[in-house]
Amino acid sequence: MRFVVLISGNGSNLQALIDACASGRIKGQLVGVLSNKAEAYGLVRAKQAGIPTQVLSNADFASREAYDAALIAALQCWQPDLLVMAGFMRILTPAFVQHFAGRMLNIHPSLLPKYQGVKTHARAIAAGDSEHGASVHFVTEELDGGPVVLQAKVPIFEDDSVDELAERVLTQEHQIYPLVINWFCLGRLKMENNQAWLDNHCLPATGYASEEDA
Ligand code: GAR
Repeated sequence: MRFVVLISGNGSNLQALIDACASGRIKGQLVGVLSNKAEAYGLVRAKQAGIPTQVLSNADFASREAYDAALIAALQCWQPDLLVMAGFMRILTPAFVQHFAGRMLNIHPSLLPKYQGVKTHARAIAAGDSEHGASVHFVTEELDGGPVVLQAKVPIFEDDSVDELAERVLTQEHQIYPLVINWFCLGRLKMENNQAWLDNHCLPATGYASEEDA
């Protein structure tokens, strides 16, 4: 399976995927990295690993629709079986999502369906939550709303800063994203009827590892 990673920034998740491919933990081929920001540090990581990169700046396009049409065209050359959103901070148009339906995964720093959107760590702290985490999910037209495949939970401690909590969550992101991408690459994971399926079992709303399963 050929997959492409889309980024906007630091690319620590991208690095985890590069490392997982190198170690054989992901049995798939990372064939390209695309960023909507020329200054994204993830581009440096990709180049260091010898992975082809493209920059497609959204600032060069008048509308979301025009950008997403150009994005589809730009990705064409890599012929991806899977698109992996790793900190790609764009809201996608329905046309784009439909084009890659069932072939697009995202990682979001919250225990979905809690805290869709941005500033998830600050919102979890402000709400007085005792736990937080990250979710890997299929991308659908609903922002951060597609079926969850796997979540990782972390505790929130009383004196946590936003940065400390974000770091704790990120460490877990680096564990669960390679695992899920490998499932997809092995043909074990798919999306059907707006639900995630692993080994032909429909996953619960909280994904594979859930308390409901225990
Ligand atoms: C990660 O925490 C990821 O979950 C989040 O952006 C960060 C990217 O970090 N994504 C979103 O918020 C998407 N809604 P990275 O560039 O170091 O991988």
